[in-house]
Amino acid sequence: MIYDVDLTMTMPPELSATSGINAIAHAVEALYARDRNPVISLMAQEGIRTLAHALPIICAQPDDKTARTDALYGAWLSGICLGAVGMALHHKLCHTLGGSFNLPHAETHTVILPHALAYNAPAVPDAMARIATALGVRRRRARPPRSGAKACCAGIAARDRHARERHRPGRRPRREEPVLESAPDRARRNPRIDRTGLARRRSANQPRDPLKENIDMRNFDEATITDAVLQRVRAAKDDRIRQVSEALVRHLHAFVREIEPTQAEWETGIDFLTRTGQMCDDKRQEFILLSDTLGVSMLVDAINHRTPEGATETTVLGPFYVQRAPEHPLGADISGTMEGAPLLVTGTVSTAGGEPLAGAVVDVWHSDDDGYYDVQQLDEIGELAMRARFRTDENGRFWFWSIRPAAYPIPHDGPVGKMLEAQGRHPWRPAHVHFMISAPGHQTLVTHVFAAGDQYLDSDVVFGVKDSLIREFAVHACRNGRSMAARWRSLIII
Ligand SMILES: [Fe+2]
Repeated sequence: MIYDVDLTMTMPPELSATSGINAIAHAVEALYARDRNPVISLMAQEGIRTLAHALPIICAQPDDKTARTDALYGAWLSGICLGAVGMALHHKLCHTLGGSFNLPHAETHTVILPHALAYNAPAVPDAMARIATALGVRRRRARPPRSGAKACCAGIAARDRHARERHRPGRRPRREEPVLESAPDRARRNPRIDRTGLARRRSANQPRDPLKENIDMRNFDEATITDAVLQRVRAAKDDRIRQVSEALVRHLHAFVREIEPTQAEWETGIDFLTRTGQMCDDKRQEFILLSDTLGVSMLVDAINHRTPEGATETTVLGPFYVQRAPEHPLGADISGTMEGAPLLVTGTVSTAGGEPLAGAVVDVWHSDDDGYYDVQQLDEIGELAMRARFRTDENGRFWFWSIRPAAYPIPHDGPVGKMLEAQGRHPWRPAHVHFMISAPGHQTLVTHVFAAGDQYLDSDVVFGVKDSLIREFAVHACRNGRSMAARWRSLIII
């Protein structure tokens, strides 16, 4: 089976629409199939959502490739549902009618679906709820059923009162709220969609009426706003900007629909982002902290560094990297005026195939033994420390002295710190040394080496720890002839 959107571009929209509803019907039946399962139900819901979103667009604009792609995705999902679980009333009716009277397949499925679903609806409330969610519509809250004679009388009285009010002269008739309004229903209310639910397409020589176009883009409600915004961002000329904008709108709206924020909560969210931006300057990057602590930085890193076998694993850059750190000769002590347990760091840079790389640039930076970086205390120490650049020797080796870094909390006196506190999380990172290693013709490596045994290895606030990046900070006794604390440590990276 070849799923190629280009092969669907010339399919007449009438056929696309009915075939799409046919696919939706299969997904709908999968939601209440006797042998349904949670995975198929998820696929069915996603299939309905995608097709219901794409079909009205295809009818209005048959050459919309994004909508065609969405429809193909929805059709695939619905096809999987059809093959995985048994079908029911709708399917049986359509095939009996189609076989008996030689009726067209897709059209028959399309016409029968609302009737079969209306018949089944009271017996399958969970499936109906999923369909409502997939269509992005609100279901009217069902009133609890009344019981007994008194309730029955009350019901009749209410019905009669309703009827009297409805016919009271001069009274404005009350609008009945539909129990469930589907995407096709919404599409029918669109002036560009005709009574059959198909788009009134503008012929090639028919001039565009901007006034009428505008009418389509008003009066949005909870059910129609997402499609309206998507339609507008599709005007982006750049393909990538269009893709990113559409995804942003889809996911942002889905997020809002899921949490249903109060107006006050929305304002709190805006205030949080505002304070996050206001916290940023040339020394503090609160947005990177936000990205780090929500795992986004590591996700972006993972997507962009699917490293080959044998390559050192990557992790986040972090907010304390400084470009163009001072270059030092191999063996230099980069601790500056900082005090702490002496640390000798040695390592070798090689290709993924194991060949040593001479002249590679090794950028290193780490915190002091209180967990502070130089850029956080520049006013006190006056110059950069515990960071430098080295070049590997002819065997790809590098080595330098510094002091042992400590575990540290990320800056948590701003909005991100308050977020962590509200989420019941600590702000700590395990002790580590940062590396950025580059060489001409090779991909730059950004990584850390973590201290074995650190108490925060399993709860790093930025989710950056990988087993392959953990090393012993080995303790050694002091040798004669070297002026240092009684014990020193070595970090050997291979
Ligand atoms: Fe760090």
